[in-house]
Amino acid sequence: MNKYSLLSMDDLSREEILAILEDAQRFNISHSDWQLPNSKALIANLFFEPSTRTHFSFCSAEMQLGCKVSDFNPDSSSVTKGETLYDTVKTFEAIGYDALVIRHPQDEYYKELENISIPIINAGDGKGNHPSQCLLDLLTIYQEFHHFEGLKVLIVGDIAHSRVATSNKIALEKLGALVYFAGPEEWRREEYKYVDLDEMISEVDVVMMLRIQKERGASLVNISNEEYLNRYGLNLKRYAMMKEEAIIMHPAPVNRGIEIDDSLVEAQKSRIFKQMSNGVLVRKAIIKRAFGYKPFKEEECA
Ligand code: NCD
Repeated sequence: MNKYSLLSMDDLSREEILAILEDAQRFNISHSDWQLPNSKALIANLFFEPSTRTHFSFCSAEMQLGCKVSDFNPDSSSVTKGETLYDTVKTFEAIGYDALVIRHPQDEYYKELENISIPIINAGDGKGNHPSQCLLDLLTIYQEFHHFEGLKVLIVGDIAHSRVATSNKIALEKLGALVYFAGPEEWRREEYKYVDLDEMISEVDVVMMLRIQKERGASLVNISNEEYLNRYGLNLKRYAMMKEEAIIMHPAPVNRGIEIDDSLVEAQKSRIFKQMSNGVLVRKAIIKRAFGYKPFKEEECA
């Protein structure tokens, strides 16, 4: 495996996480026009699961950096003839691609790809990890509070099927934040610290809502959308209980009126669309790193 691959938040030290966040910010502030010195870099996005934000913010970041970009569609590829993931990825390496972004429904699919030598950026593995989403979440939190130590983050909803929950738990705890979970009992992960949503919501700095992952088999019997919102979602009553400076996050896509009241998606405390914009900055920093370029130095910044 290439040393610049990014597969899980376990791959990054505290210092490396902070360096990626700093680089992402500098892309915004003083290096918005920076491009890879190698303008021939070829990158392919291999999405074996549906995606809007992650796929196209990677595309946007890659094109802004001057890469040549290909998008792979499994349905019109030799995957339909039974080709394995390994053979598909090995083919991309053999035909001259320099880096790959991969999303796949299998947990830790990348364990099959240890013999691949070009960098692989994990854009989501089943219910395993989602490091680029986590980094954009961290950037959004950092822009708001300018630190992580002691921050209280409450992650709410379908925890069991969420790769976003896992990656954020790993990284936030590494950075000194306190992470709590709430949601239906059916979707708990045993080792996580669960709290009562209504007791905790007034205490936390960040409320991160998660989508119900129906495609991974999440379902609750006998519960309407309205009841889900009232029991486990962010409704107007809970919004009113949040601290003055607290923020709402959601990786999206959002099921409006189920995880979160429709009117709160763009409420004053919501950073949901800010997260998406931050996704491009963070992915630029991730791709820059994948090609072996160091973070911008202090003195290079305006
Ligand atoms: C998340 C994902 O795919 O894991 N979305 C995303 O990448 N923006 C969460 C989700 O789909 O619910």
